[in-house]
Amino acid sequence: MSLKDAATAVMANAHAPYSNFKVGAAIRAASGTVYVGCNVENVAYPEGTCAEAGAIAAMVAAGETELSEVYVIAGSSMPVTPCGGCRQKLAEFGAEEVRVTMGTTANDTELTMTLGALLPGAFNTDHMDDI
Ligand code: THU
Repeated sequence: MSLKDAATAVMANAHAPYSNFKVGAAIRAASGTVYVGCNVENVAYPEGTCAEAGAIAAMVAAGETELSEVYVIAGSSMPVTPCGGCRQKLAEFGAEEVRVTMGTTANDTELTMTLGALLPGAFNTDHMDDI
């Protein structure tokens, strides 16, 4: 199954009764295994989690800490881009050149960017080296 198909399939399981904006994410880890996640909203709004966070949690729970490719999809008219927090979460486990493809179930439009381009100047361990 392609990353796009995996992300599209899990998007159907999203719990998004407050925004009605379902998102699916699929991550290919270094082993080749694909991990998926969907957004899980909560009546206490800040407690909701993004699709990317769910996929990352599944990957880490399975014992993997390196991702090589990401696909995110939603029903928006233009490809959905990861929120700022998810860019930082993805950067924790992926190199700058990792490709993140954003898609939409509304049409065939896709946008591919690297993690480095999505989060320029990312905060990383270099910033803590001299402490
Ligand atoms: N959302 C994600 O799951 N991933 C993104 O990349 C963008 C936003 C979710 C969070 C919330 O449940 C809904 O989309 C609307 O913001």
